[in-house]
Amino acid sequence: MNRPIFLIGYMGSGKSSLGRQLAHEMQRDFIDLDKYIETRFHATVKQIFAERGEEGFRLIERNIIHEVAEFQNVIVACGGGTPCYYDNMDFMLTHGLTVYLNVSPEVLALRLALPGSRNKRPLIADKSDEELLDFVREGLCKRLPYYTRAKIDFNATHLIDKAETIQTARQLVQVIAEHEK
Ligand code: S3P
Repeated sequence: MNRPIFLIGYMGSGKSSLGRQLAHEMQRDFIDLDKYIETRFHATVKQIFAERGEEGFRLIERNIIHEVAEFQNVIVACGGGTPCYYDNMDFMLTHGLTVYLNVSPEVLALRLALPGSRNKRPLIADKSDEELLDFVREGLCKRLPYYTRAKIDFNATHLIDKAETIQTARQLVQVIAEHEK
């Protein structure tokens, strides 16, 4: 199985941190879709949103997902919204293995309230700690119909430190191996 593995899930679900560790465990290359876009466009996601609007960002995201799907042996950490626009979810379902990182809104809101977390995410940049939980609950509710189409639904609650991240990544390796049997 050398097709890409697409990690999907809400902002703060651990796509990047778990993805990087998973790539290490599986000896694959790791691609963070937002970082890939930032390098390609010489601009941060925040700047792209400001200059081209969310619509402009979604179009870029859609094109880039097609590009990275050509690579072999990669783990792709998608953006939180990636599966929810255009036919991106159908595309990922047919071009790789999709894994949904399932985390409760309460845990997501706690992670997103950590310092530095809001700053790089235009959709929550102006939300107070108090507003975050409701925003996450509503956003997750709208996105679940997309996320739950993933082939694997994986609980990614326990990523508090490096040790937990390694342990969780190893569990995911097992789940993927079982799925591919
Ligand atoms: C977004 C999530 C972000 C980034 C952009 C939009 C979203 O990625 O793609 O700010 O719509 O949920 P992360 O999920 O890595 O924060």
